Amino acid sequence: MLAGRHVVLAISGGVAAFKAAYLARRLIEAGAEVRTVMTASGCEFLGPQTMAALTGARPVVDLFGQEDVSPHTSLAQWADVIVVAPATAATISRLANGLSSDALAATVLAAQCPVVVAPAMHTEMWEHPATARNVATLRGDGCIIAGPVSGALAGGDEGPGRMLEPDEILEIVTGIFAAGPMTGWRVLVSAGGTREAIDPVRYIGNRSSGKMGNALALAAADAGATVTLVTTVAAPSHDRIEVVAVESAQEMAEAVWGLAPEADVAVLAAAVADFRPAEPAAGKLRRAEGLPQINLEPTPDILAGVGALEKRPYLVGFAAEVGALEGAIDKARRKGLDLLVANDIASPGSGFGTETTEVTIITPDGTPEAWEMLSKSEVAKKLVAEIVRRHGAAGGN
Ligand SMILES: Cc1cc2nc3c(=O)[nH]c(=O)nc-3n(C[C@H](O)[C@H](O)[C@H](O)COP(=O)(O)O)c2cc1C
Repeated sequence: MLAGRHVVLAISGGVAAFKAAYLARRLIEAGAEVRTVMTASGCEFLGPQTMAALTGARPVVDLFGQEDVSPHTSLAQWADVIVVAPATAATISRLANGLSSDALAATVLAAQCPVVVAPAMHTEMWEHPATARNVATLRGDGCIIAGPVSGALAGGDEGPGRMLEPDEILEIVTGIFAAGPMTGWRVLVSAGGTREAIDPVRYIGNRSSGKMGNALALAAADAGATVTLVTTVAAPSHDRIEVVAVESAQEMAEAVWGLAPEADVAVLAAAVADFRPAEPAAGKLRRAEGLPQINLEPTPDILAGVGALEKRPYLVGFAAEVGALEGAIDKARRKGLDLLVANDIASPGSGFGTETTEVTIITPDGTPEAWEMLSKSEVAKKLVAEIVRRHGAAGGN
């Protein structure tokens, strides 16, 4: 699983440090070569001699006075992945702020490989706004935050803050190197229904829940892609999904058009309004003022805009149809899509807000292929496989 991989295990000063010894052993059993770097507090909780005996190499515990004159850069360059376990609140704070004041923090700062951070601390420390801020910063910097979970803590306490078990951390590390069929692909997904302002309070919206788009973003990320999800709704959490929050069709168009030229694949599943109020009122419209006249104007056509790009991604569109699919086939042809996913929102179990859907895939030559009723996450996985088959076969990514 990890044969030939170089893992730097970075151990800071929490009680869970005792589990780092077992984690080192499990990583080695999985084929990895393991080196360790420990904070001074980490050495209070776990003997460096233990780690030396387990890994066959002395842990780096100081920046100075070592045989290697620059131990942090040597370790950082050697590493294929760094696993900070346990990660104390203090170490997380240093990493989030780019401090390099000890060997562990300096190693992480000097590294360009993936960094897995496994927090371990008391609930109060974990839930403190400062820790929450630091963890959010690390996530934004691309670190993989592994855990913590809720459970038994040191001193007989219980609650969120318990470090993941070594085998769970091992699984995350092996997942990093398990290349999915979309590894190296940049996938752009849109999700949710747009909201077009009538006034500062009201909007014209639609019934889209964003479930299909979210499932697609997850399926692509699980297949190894780096995903950007442009969405109007709450997004799933995944270390390979970056979220761009938007509200209106205009905002979604600007975000999608800006990102599409760099994407290998765009799967546009959002339900975008076709019309919007031409002049949204600056203040709240009041009943006493009588019936307002709301004039509509067309919104930007996001799909057509991506289709017309000089450097355009493999383009997958969605069509919510009622009844016959002729409209969808016509749409696929008009907008020059590579693939169109049509669903009959009037059929039972299919459509907005449902967990299941029954879709028909329409290929560029207009041939429809009906899929059976499936959960949205099954449709997403099947669609990702379909995109890999078609786009990958064409030399894509
Ligand atoms: C008995 C004991 C247990 C501790 N356990 C934790 C812990 O689980 N998580 C944590 O963030 N800090 C814990 N601390 C506090 C850290 O050891 C302390 O903040 C230290 O400065 C962390 O340094 P480091 O991040 O450089 O290793 C504990 C302290 C003591 C005395």
